[in-house]
Amino acid sequence: MEKPVLIRNGKRNDGRGVMDLRPLKITAGVLKKADGSAMIEWGKNKILAAVYGPREAFPKHMANPNRANVNCKYSMAPFSSLEEHGRSGPNRRAIEIGKVAKHVFENAILTNQFPKTQIDISIEVLQSDGGTRIAGITAAAVALADAGIPMRDLVQGVSVGKVDGVLVVDVDKPEDNYGTSDIPVIVSLRSNEILLFQLDGMLSKKEVETALDYSFETAKTVRELQIEALKNKYVLEESGA
Ligand code: CDP
Repeated sequence: MEKPVLIRNGKRNDGRGVMDLRPLKITAGVLKKADGSAMIEWGKNKILAAVYGPREAFPKHMANPNRANVNCKYSMAPFSSLEEHGRSGPNRRAIEIGKVAKHVFENAILTNQFPKTQIDISIEVLQSDGGTRIAGITAAAVALADAGIPMRDLVQGVSVGKVDGVLVVDVDKPEDNYGTSDIPVIVSLRSNEILLFQLDGMLSKKEVETALDYSFETAKTVRELQIEALKNKYVLEESGA
């Protein structure tokens, strides 16, 4: 398919400005059986995150006497792709995303408070539209908070990409497909640290610096919505809903 025009008169294919996020809604505590859970609807992405634990590590010989093991599984439902030939199931990409999410949460969770245990995080993509790793990790952070698991910070992120020569925030599927590069970033605003940084394509040093500035700036908006989701859960519980 021919590359569409992605930026016209400063507006993106869906009418957004370069710094605008897609519509973003987060709901905490959507599953009754999980210790913590969250649903994120970000653009056309719909992703469920569930947390189980901390519970006794299994198998026992894998138990770490000093901290909790963090396991993270990312998967795409077979019906999740808007692409005609999208593939789901456990493939190399899913394994990679599970691994990078695990690293993020090993650095965010206070694992030393739970020796010999494991914390299991599942990220289930029900509908995908670009940026699922970022959206999934953002939802999983809310699910961990919902499970009452102590963390250094409530982490979140956004994907910054270069499309038609311009850096844009929150890359959607057409921009991912036809843009020249994208950088998924997860940050901790409290410590000003980058917990995930991946780069697909090529960018100059200056562009990477600008992309990081954009990520930190927009993470503030994402964080407010995460906190609101957690507060709303308790309002709904109190009202008996
Ligand atoms: O989702 P994310 O941007 O983190 O990862 P990606 O590997 O850059 O994939 C970009 C998008 O391609 C996903 O969000 C999906 O919409 C789509 N995709 C798909 O439909 N089927 C796959 N097997 C892989 C990706």
